[in-house]
Amino acid sequence: MGAKPRSLSGIKPTGTPHLGNYLGMIKPAIQMQQTHETFYFIADYHALTSTHDPNQLRENAYDLTAIFAALGMDFENHAFFRQSDIPEVTELTWILSCITPKGLMERAHAFKDAISKKQEVNMGLFSYPVLMACDILIYDSNFVPVGQDQRQHLEITRDLAIRFNHLFGEAFVIPEAIIQKDVATIPGLDGRKMSKSYGNVVPLMAPEKQFRKAIMKITTDSKTVEEPKDPDTCNVFALYKCFSTETDQKELASRYRAGGMGYGEAKQLCFEALNAELREPRENYQNIRKDLPQLDGILESGRDKARAIAMQVTERVRAKVGL
Ligand code: ADP
Ligand code: TRP
Repeated sequence: MGAKPRSLSGIKPTGTPHLGNYLGMIKPAIQMQQTHETFYFIADYHALTSTHDPNQLRENAYDLTAIFAALGMDFENHAFFRQSDIPEVTELTWILSCITPKGLMERAHAFKDAISKKQEVNMGLFSYPVLMACDILIYDSNFVPVGQDQRQHLEITRDLAIRFNHLFGEAFVIPEAIIQKDVATIPGLDGRKMSKSYGNVVPLMAPEKQFRKAIMKITTDSKTVEEPKDPDTCNVFALYKCFSTETDQKELASRYRAGGMGYGEAKQLCFEALNAELREPRENYQNIRKDLPQLDGILESGRDKARAIAMQVTERVRAKVGL
């Protein structure tokens, strides 16, 4: 650890991690280990804004730890931890809340969505972006790999960091979002954004049969086998693209356009491409997931690395504001 730029990201332990999470965040995050010092965490404080099932929360946190392990995260040289193991985050959230304009929170997408759906809004959901800003700022993070849907949160984070630095003097590093253009938003089975909250996901670590079944369920238009098809508007092709070489993509695209290939066949090819990449991690996952002492060890060593930095940054901030 040391001279490399720091990459940080978080994922909520709510529901089953899916291909959207994998392509938008987990995969780029793991790839960044080669060039960055990486800090990744389970956003369990954030999950509390919407879940009230303690057992499920604990199990989901282990699922995520096992997923990162199965996908090859190097826990010796990088940190993987629970957000709630770093209590300084909540202290910093209070301090930052005191310079956060209420209007900025009222413009946040998640809050606006909840209001438009007439859902009840708790204070946790309302101040979600402040907590997220602190997650990022408390580790002096340089880069934050996330999906497109998190862009606004990153903008809010930068705004708050700049505002604090301006009011109290330089305390925070200004982070940058890293958003993969090709995979910015992965469509789900029904064509909307793949999301746990829409129940339209392909679960990342599902057993092979279930995984194939999910892919076979992807919605397409109702063109017959003979008809030419448009790869650019097809949800199956959108997924295939993320798991194949350019040559393979071109070949399948021309088969779409030529007609004579049904969506069933396209789905089978899509399944094969995805499965080639995910088969081995899935097997690793089944083994690691059972080993709770190993998972606890990973989380403890991550906590120790992350907390050391969080304590330094919190001290710096306390001094700036006069605490
Ligand atoms: P969900 O929307 O399923 O609840 P999260 O909000 O926990 O997922 O997202 C965790 C990470 O995965 C974030 O970085 C988010 O941007 C990314 N992500 C989630 N869904 C998608 C998607 N459909 N396409 C690309 N990235 C996604
Ligand atoms: N809000 C993110 C999501 O819903 C999860 C998250 C919490 C996060 N804190 C973060 C992501 C800090 C990146 C950095 O997916």
